[in-house]
Amino acid sequence: MLELERRWIEFNKNSGAIVAIQGLVKADVPSPSHNYNVTLPEPNAPYVAGQMLPISYTLPDDTNLPNLLSLSVLFTTQDPTLNFTDIVITSNADISQGFSFRRTHNTMVYFEHQLSYAIPNNTLPGNYIVLFVDSISKSNTSVPILVRPYAAPVTTLPTNPNRAHPSNGGSIFAYHSNDVQATHQINWTLANVSLALLLIACSAL
Ligand SMILES: *[C@@H]1O[C@H](CO)[C@@H](O)[C@H](O)[C@H]1NC(C)=O
Ligand SMILES: *[C@@H]1O[C@H](CO)[C@@H](O)[C@H](O)[C@H]1NC(C)=O
Ligand SMILES: *[C@@H]1O[C@H](CO)[C@@H](O)[C@H](O)[C@H]1NC(C)=O
Ligand SMILES: *[C@@H]1O[C@H](CO)[C@@H](O)[C@H](O)[C@H]1NC(C)=O
Ligand SMILES: *[C@@H]1O[C@H](CO)[C@@H](O)[C@H](O)[C@H]1NC(C)=O
Ligand SMILES: *[C@@H]1O[C@H](CO)[C@@H](O)[C@H](O)[C@H]1NC(C)=O
Repeated sequence: MLELERRWIEFNKNSGAIVAIQGLVKADVPSPSHNYNVTLPEPNAPYVAGQMLPISYTLPDDTNLPNLLSLSVLFTTQDPTLNFTDIVITSNADISQGFSFRRTHNTMVYFEHQLSYAIPNNTLPGNYIVLFVDSISKSNTSVPILVRPYAAPVTTLPTNPNRAHPSNGGSIFAYHSNDVQATHQINWTLANVSLALLLIACSAL
């Protein structure tokens, strides 16, 4: 996994897609209660208004967890000049321990949940906070992020289905590997079209 991560860092350095890579370099933020860790967003990382903010957290393997943890996630700021009203991303974050959320690291079993939140287009650039509020332990985990201004998307490939945003529960990694495949498919498509034209030209002779 570490090897993979390194390669993706290289790739992203070259392509300039810095935000995309942040999620793969894990810098977990532990909660005060130790009942969850925040694995995304990456603290102090830049995200862009109008784009997806990935959120991910891990839970311990503990069947008693519903009695220990009740989690909300808010999008907020401490900067009054941003004229920003707190947004509740979820008031009841999923803490289930189903098989599809199960992960292992060495021998440790834990559970991972992912969310993705579309930062509103009109969000003023500045310092924001993704705030995890646990109403049972009455403690919060705060992850500062930077929001950069909205930029209208460059419409290179309006019909490419692989451009779909990563909110469909797939991992960030899978999403970006799709992106790379998409690039290759374009080349193949171009090649196929050229070939087809060539064949038509030949048969016309
Ligand atoms: C949370 O992070 C701590 C280290 O900070 C680690 O010991 C613990 O196993 C992690 N728990 C989960 C559920 O990821
Ligand atoms: C602050 O936000 C409100 C509602 O979103 C808007 O009506 C108002 O004009 C904003 N004020 C400034 C100074 O941007
Ligand atoms: C934000 O911008 C995107 C792309 O231009 C557009 O599709 C979307 O409708 C906008 N959302 C809002 C809430 O204005
Ligand atoms: C946690 O955040 C909520 C929402 O902003 C706030 O009402 C509460 O006082 C905070 N609790 C702690 C312990 O900081
Ligand atoms: C083919 O894809 C590569 C990246 O994989 C890209 O650099 C190149 O410009 C593409 N060629 C064409 C004709 O689109
Ligand atoms: C057409 O493109 C596909 C990939 O999308 C490729 O597998 C196939 O070999 C191409 N066919 C020709 C004739 O180039």
